[in-house]
Amino acid sequence: MTEAPTAPAPTQSPGPHLTIEPNILYFGTPVVLLSTENADGTANLAPMSSAWALGRTVVLGLGAAGQTAVNLAQRPDLVINLPGPALWRAVERLAPLTGRDPVPAAKAGQFRYEPAKFAAAGLTPAPAELVRPPRVAECPLQLEARAGRVRPAQDESFVIVEADVLRVHAAAELVVPGTDHVDPARWQPLIYNFRHYFGLGAELGHTFRSETAS
Ligand SMILES: Cc1cc2nc3c(=O)[nH]c(=O)nc-3n(C[C@H](O)[C@H](O)[C@H](O)COP(=O)(O)O)c2cc1C
Repeated sequence: MTEAPTAPAPTQSPGPHLTIEPNILYFGTPVVLLSTENADGTANLAPMSSAWALGRTVVLGLGAAGQTAVNLAQRPDLVINLPGPALWRAVERLAPLTGRDPVPAAKAGQFRYEPAKFAAAGLTPAPAELVRPPRVAECPLQLEARAGRVRPAQDESFVIVEADVLRVHAAAELVVPGTDHVDPARWQPLIYNFRHYFGLGAELGHTFRSETAS
């Protein structure tokens, strides 16, 4: 008689846990660079990492006092640019900057006003096709989008933006030839992990719905 297959043993638990009060909960999410349009028609560019996709909608969590949130409430076009790990220093050059003038009180001391964010980061604007703000030429994935909803979060110092993706641009070398699939073996996001930058480790496996498994 053959035995019924047993479930594999769970991996070992990590040991005792501590109750802690961290002041941030950035537990490892991809960095995106949001291009938006300022009131004078110039572009703002801001790094953020509270972004995730629901079908063709990308949900973004933004500080309400930042220029990006102000722009999206008034001019809903944006580009969600995804940098790879090699761009972390350019992302970090943007980190202490805001496009908001004057600098909001909550940012005073740590941030400075910078109207020319692309130049400050050493990144290149490239025209978008369906929206007004530019794409970031160096980013391998660029999502042209429009904010459908911008609303206060439960904590009113943040806003939640629901952005509808209108067009996806993917660097040709990332696309599985002859398909619309991004090759996960080639695309590498830049991960923000408790305020430190990481790339991805080696692949562990894939879900049953993968369309790109070899
Ligand atoms: C890697 C990284 C991730 C960040 N993630 C977020 C985020 O998810 N939401 C947010 O509001 N700010 C985030 N920030 C902070 C903004 O970039 C910062 O507030 C910036 O001044 C916003 O620019 P703006 O005022 O021109 O929009 C992040 C910064 C870095 C460097």
